[in-house]
Amino acid sequence: MQNRLCEMFGIEFPIFAFTHCRDVAAAVSRAGGMGVLGALAFSPEQLELELKWIDEHVDGKPYGVDVVIPVKSADREMGLSDEKSLADTLHGLITDEHWEFVHKILAEHGVPDEPDQASGNGGSPLDQGVLGWTELTGAPLIDIALAHPIKLLASALGPPPPEAIERAHAQDVKVAALIGRKEQAIRDVQTGVDLIIAQGYEAGGHTGEVASMVLVPDVVDAISPTPVLAAGGIGSGRQMAAAMALGADGVWTGSVWLTVAESDMQPPIMEKLLAATSTDTVRSRSMTGKPARQLRTAWTEAWESPDAPKPLPMPLQFILWSYATRRITAAGNRELLGMPVGQIVSRMNKVRTAKEVIYEMIEEYIEVTERLNSELADA
Ligand SMILES: Cc1cc2nc3c(=O)[nH]c(=O)nc-3n(C[C@H](O)[C@H](O)[C@H](O)COP(=O)(O)O)c2cc1C
Repeated sequence: MQNRLCEMFGIEFPIFAFTHCRDVAAAVSRAGGMGVLGALAFSPEQLELELKWIDEHVDGKPYGVDVVIPVKSADREMGLSDEKSLADTLHGLITDEHWEFVHKILAEHGVPDEPDQASGNGGSPLDQGVLGWTELTGAPLIDIALAHPIKLLASALGPPPPEAIERAHAQDVKVAALIGRKEQAIRDVQTGVDLIIAQGYEAGGHTGEVASMVLVPDVVDAISPTPVLAAGGIGSGRQMAAAMALGADGVWTGSVWLTVAESDMQPPIMEKLLAATSTDTVRSRSMTGKPARQLRTAWTEAWESPDAPKPLPMPLQFILWSYATRRITAAGNRELLGMPVGQIVSRMNKVRTAKEVIYEMIEEYIEVTERLNSELADA
């Protein structure tokens, strides 16, 4: 294919793949798309190893890195600036009521008690579920990313800091920001990002309230000539053609890569994903504190119940979720086991390689655009 995004990145197809798995990122880039590694859950040391591995396995093809820089989070609002005490301070903000509720959910679903189940406290901020979404834990990830030959730095929940955008540009790295509302797209373009990822309600992970069908053309018109990638509910050539018809220059996909052969998903969650339909997801604050689309589980249902406390703000709620998920996974409890995924999960019914996903998407894209063209010619 030839369009301005293919030219901008030197890629064959304007298909961008968000993934936490380095094998998937490298496989997508090798197949002619653009693999983008989600850095959120890695320590700086681990991210360095992952990117080194990608550099060695991507055959010189372009790839990117995604970080999460929340405009609003508990640590930022409190002005916390001491990495050493970050996790302890954040733990101190979690109420007993919230810990008790978590333990009640686990007990009701037969997850065995732990000797010391007071809280998940102990270990590094990463071990405790703080992840890269505080300023203190997120900024070093950008430094590592920019020390590798990446072509794209993407960020969610807010644009990267202006200083990071400047450094990226000085290295000829393009900067993208995920948004869920037109106003956020305008704000982010003003901060200097090069392309906008307009992510609709259907998408897996943090998502807004506007569906892709409405969001994409609104954003395209609002920020023209800045290029737009459409995200949310895209996993096939027909969906890609629809996104391009709405004015997008390419597609940004996430969920569809969870069930590819190269993915590192564990069998119980893989089975759940392959079996789920589009009504098996829910947009809930129960994972991170911000609305995130994920599998509907006994955990998401419990937080909807009348006796549930209000989910805590980011990143506190995720500390609870990480603690619970560690125990749920150890117990192999399928009812509670969940993860972010979009409504497109209904079509993720068999395991394919990343290359098959890309090629099938492109074949169907060609078929559908030819059909539409021929209908025009016949008219
Ligand atoms: C498991 C999962 C984790 C995600 N984590 C992030 C993340 O850390 N950073 C980010 O920018 N987007 C994240 N997203 C959103 C994706 O980047 C992408 O926008 C979204 O998956 C697109 O919609 P789709 O799921 O319908 O393909 C995540 C999505 C999924 C499914």
